[in-house]
Parts: sequence; structure tokens; C-alpha cells
Amino acid sequence: MRIVYLSLSGNIRKFINDGGIEATEISYSNPLIEINEDFVLIVPSYDQEITDLMSEFIEYENNEENLVAIVGSGSRNFNDGFCFNAKDLSEKYNKPLIFKFEFSGTEDDIINFKKEVELIEITRTK
Ligand SMILES: Cc1cc2nc3c(=O)[nH]c(=O)nc-3n(C[C@H](O)[C@H](O)[C@H](O)COP(=O)(O)O)c2cc1C
Repeated sequence: MRIVYLSLSGNIRKFINDGGIEATEISYSNPLIEINEDFVLIVPSYDQEITDLMSEFIEYENNEENLVAIVGSGSRNFNDGFCFNAKDLSEKYNKPLIFKFEFSGTEDDIINFKKEVELIEITRTK
């Protein structure tokens, strides 16, 4: 399962690096890349523009078909708006939101993220 992410202020990038996770970073200025295998998308939370930008990416080539699940990074200070971009994308494209974490995550978040990715891989191959 490929991990693909967008990171504007570096938190998700740090999460990926801390976790020693092999991943593909989407460029904010050039997000239209094709992912030719099953992938989990990690998105940060900012404003509606993020949902629009990620929608363009998801609808590019076969990306929507290969998108398996969504993960969000955000801040609980935003209360109901915690990880709202990830939630909106999950609903829009009918893909499960499998995990949420704050900022660049904790050690436990990294462990739990990896577990969720493994779980969804197992569920899909059954
Ligand atoms: C201007 C601004 C707006 C934000 N809005 C939200 C928000 O609505 N909901 C949320 O959960 N987090 C929000 N955050 C927190 C970021 O999503 C969080 O820091 C995230 O880890 C950023 O990931 P990145 O550094 O990889 O871009 C906001 C942060 C900033 C700076």
C-alpha cells in the first residue's frame, strides 16, 4: 500500500519521516500526479481550498479508483472542525477515514497509523 500525503507546514512530512514510512509527497503547486497502485492519502486541515485541491488530485487519471482510505492531520483546537478536510473527502469519495492525528503525531500515533494501514490491507485481500 502506497502512502501519499500533502504537507504545507511540514507536520505530516515529519510524521512520515519519524515513522520511517516510505511515501510520496504531493506538491501543492503541482498536485496532478498519477498513483498507479492502491494508496492511503494523508491530508492536513486548513480551509476549503485543501478539499478542492485534493479533489483535483483524486479525480486525476485513475487516482480515485486506487484511493483506498483517507487519514487526517489537524488540531483539536478546531473542535468540530478537527480534520474536516479529511472528513469531507472521505464522504465525497466514499472512502473510509481510517485515522486522525494532531500535528506531526506522537509515537503512539505512528504505531496506530501503521496498524490501521495493515488492517485495511488485510480486509481488502480477503
Ligand atoms: C491557518 C491554519 C488553519 C488551520 N485550520 C485547521 C482546521 O480547520 N482544522 C484542524 O483540524 N486543523 C487546522 N489547522 C492545523 C493543521 O491542520 C495542522 O497543523 C496540520 O498538522 C498541518 O499539517 P502540515 O504541517 O503537514 O501541513 C490549521 C492550521 C493553520 C496554520
